[in-house]
Amino acid sequence: MGSSGSLFWSSSNDSAVDPGIGLTARQKKLVQNTWAIVRKDPIVNGMAIMIAFFKKYPEYQKLFSAFKDVALEELSANKKFQAHCLNVVTALNNIIDSINDLALLEANLLGIGERHHRRGQTKEQFLNLKDVILDVLRQKLGAKFTCETSVAWSKTIDAVIDGIFQSFTT
Ligand code: HEM
Repeated sequence: MGSSGSLFWSSSNDSAVDPGIGLTARQKKLVQNTWAIVRKDPIVNGMAIMIAFFKKYPEYQKLFSAFKDVALEELSANKKFQAHCLNVVTALNNIIDSINDLALLEANLLGIGERHHRRGQTKEQFLNLKDVILDVLRQKLGAKFTCETSVAWSKTIDAVIDGIFQSFTT
């Protein structure tokens, strides 16, 4: 992601790439429109992401003191887990809502990065989350998750992760 202020791009041109985030206006719309569907059911869809993440990387559940010992099949009924999933989706809402305001997006991602880095989260963990999110979106969106949408989401997640990593010193 470029530095703030590099957003010299015309919103009237759907195929011009915003150099800040690396997405065209059309790609941003695809991401925002598909996220609009997912965010309507924040706890259910947040849980789908987190449960898929823990299924693929069981060791990651141990990082969450509030529900580290809850069996996978009991997680969805656990209110602390639900609360965390809601927090994650809310954070993702804020990210997706700010993809047209690079400085705001960068500030937000820096904060997320700082809090996670301080707790010991690694770059690898974030990179591993990317495919999990893409898989859940594919499942949830069905035919709406076209090839073009998939590319737009992949680029968005890359940019988000890049922004988060700006606060990682190692
Ligand atoms: C874009 C990706 C992510 C988003 C938007 C996100 C969002 C959040 C939010 C909103 C919180 C609560 C506020 C805070 O303490 O920061 C949180 C906490 C946390 N996240 Fe993430 N997160 C992401 C990726 C990850 C990854 C990859 C891991 C590593 C497995 C992780 C592990 C944690 C842990 C351990 C906590 C603390 C939970 C607790 O004990 O309260 N997160 N995350």
